[in-house]
Amino acid sequence: MTDRKKPTIPMLFKKVEDGAPITWLTCYDYPTAYLQEQAGIDMILVGDSLGMTMLGYDSTLPVTMDDMIRHSQAVRRGAPNVFVIGDMPYMSYQASTESAIRNAGRFMAEAACDAIKLEGGVEVCERIEGIVKAGIPAIGHLGLTPQSVSALGGYKVQGKGALQAKKIIDAAKALEDAGAFMILLEMVPDRVCELITQRAEHCIIMSLGSGPNAHGQLLIYHDMFGLYPRFKPRMAKVFGNAGEVILNGLKGYVAEVTDRTFPQPEHWFGIKDEEFDELQGML
Ligand code: KIV
Repeated sequence: MTDRKKPTIPMLFKKVEDGAPITWLTCYDYPTAYLQEQAGIDMILVGDSLGMTMLGYDSTLPVTMDDMIRHSQAVRRGAPNVFVIGDMPYMSYQASTESAIRNAGRFMAEAACDAIKLEGGVEVCERIEGIVKAGIPAIGHLGLTPQSVSALGGYKVQGKGALQAKKIIDAAKALEDAGAFMILLEMVPDRVCELITQRAEHCIIMSLGSGPNAHGQLLIYHDMFGLYPRFKPRMAKVFGNAGEVILNGLKGYVAEVTDRTFPQPEHWFGIKDEEFDELQGML
């Protein structure tokens, strides 16, 4: 824990006004949340990507609300002074506005989140309106929306054609009008992202693989540190290869236990001679 002041929504808008980019990362566990707060990250997304990065599923679809709550609670304990966003998992909001409000409420009440995020365009505006009316800050997510990966035909850039780009621009306006205070654009072409950012009136636009002309950037933590072995998306700059460091450490452990160089006396605990003699006498 640090003594910094936890960012609030007005503080995030002030950053936008000052032209200072907002920093945002995914995070799913206590020790990483602790480090992210120390590093001065503004916002954490407890993403349903945890289904892939932490639980090893092939997609985000099997992730449940209970999974999300458990991980969000751990993150909140590790980062009490970061703005934490709970990501609404598949089928936690699609069926009805009432289920959307109830599940969004769980993130706030059970995990002390500051906001929720959900995927989709015009079709989720009614959900956003309901959630916001219930007093819960909501974030939209457009472009590549992993819960619709099957309908989108894979993990591909969205909005490359003019018609599709126009649809994303219109959806961003609709989400803003529905009350979303922030929208994430994932894998949208840079100039489309720039247009959306320029047109946003009371909404913060964040980029994940959508170029520099947004109000801030999001990255997936596991991609940044070589911790997700299955694939490496283009936008995922590696800031340090923790995966390699950990693998080398694990190999070292196997080698040292095997050749008996670990443990050494400083790694174990002893018993005083007199106590040991007494013990032997009892046996
Ligand atoms: O679940 C997640 O981490 C996300 C990102 C891919 C934006 O929604």
